[in-house]
Amino acid sequence: MGVCYENVVRPLLFRMEPEEAHAMGSRLLRLAPKVPGLCSLLRAYSLVREDRPVKLFGLEFPNRVGLAAGMDKDAEFTRVVEALGFGHAEVGTVTPKGQPGNPQPRLFRYPETETIVNRMGFNNHGAEAMVQRLAVEYPKGKRRMPIGVNIGKAKETPIENAVDDYLACFRLLADQADYFTINISSPNTEGLRTLQSKAYLEELLSALRNENCRFAKRLGRDPHPMLVKIAPDLSFSEIDAVLEVLLAAEYSGIIATNTTITRPESFPGNESGGLSGGSYLAKRSREVVNYMHLATNSRLPIIGVGGINSPEAAGAMIDAGASLVQIYTAWIYKGPFFARALARALKSQGEDWI
Ligand SMILES: Cc1cc2nc3c(=O)[nH]c(=O)nc-3n(C[C@H](O)[C@H](O)[C@H](O)COP(=O)(O)O)c2cc1C
Repeated sequence: MGVCYENVVRPLLFRMEPEEAHAMGSRLLRLAPKVPGLCSLLRAYSLVREDRPVKLFGLEFPNRVGLAAGMDKDAEFTRVVEALGFGHAEVGTVTPKGQPGNPQPRLFRYPETETIVNRMGFNNHGAEAMVQRLAVEYPKGKRRMPIGVNIGKAKETPIENAVDDYLACFRLLADQADYFTINISSPNTEGLRTLQSKAYLEELLSALRNENCRFAKRLGRDPHPMLVKIAPDLSFSEIDAVLEVLLAAEYSGIIATNTTITRPESFPGNESGGLSGGSYLAKRSREVVNYMHLATNSRLPIIGVGGINSPEAAGAMIDAGASLVQIYTAWIYKGPFFARALARALKSQGEDWI
């Protein structure tokens, strides 16, 4: 399957502008559930279940491979993502209201290094549209995998008022999310990454935690697992500060990492934005994961993401301390069945970790 994708489908898709190809791919993924029997067929081929589901922050993950945020920004194709072998999907980043994102062109491929540079800027249809879509297409109670909702702030919202945007997203989506990711690490929304600094982060995380507790109390259920997604460009002392705040606020876990604004020495392009995929980011993301794993004495669940493009790279991320992995860029380069391949490989390597 992978060979067919790489030799036939990918060359056709890569003849299009990257964003046009993404739109075309998204259209196909949206249409798939409308073809009778197709999702069942895909599921029969792709579903990978660990012998025992991975239990993390109160949720059960059928396997260790998730779809990273940004691919399905509006939760438009969650059912197919599940049928293609993923064990969870993170939708978003969503902002309270829809916004167009940055002007195009804003997505660039570098096939020689299997990397992407993007400066999308949180283009999305807004939190209300996402609630409706999840409620209709992939409602809670009918899911075979958890859905994480990745939330952010609108471009127009000044950083001082960022908390209001995160709270608004949380309130709108609390009924549909299985877990929340607080995105403070995308490089394409001005000022967003300053939220990683201690003063801002304390205020943001405690406001969300309080809201989460109020929500849970009102409905008589457990609070949502809350995760934070960080940038690979933080120094180790900045990571220490994030960990301190996150642990004090009793967050459930961390996702490392987002795209990087740095470039390897020999990088073939000069577009600004976040770099994803490839061995350069893989190395840094793994380093960050391992640092946090050791710094927290393995107490904090970590989802590792960044440059995972092979079963070996996925295994190395787990060895570094991640409990789950996510992919984005490699799904584009390796094709729709790549999640299945990774999940199967991690499952068979799994015995060594027990
Ligand atoms: C085009 C594009 C859009 C992205 N959008 C988001 C986003 O909205 N929110 C987010 O948290 N991460 C976003 N990401 C980052 C990915 O979720 C992931 O952290 C990063 O790409 C590293 O993983 P990878 O090397 O497997 O792609 C985006 C990445 C790409 C390539």
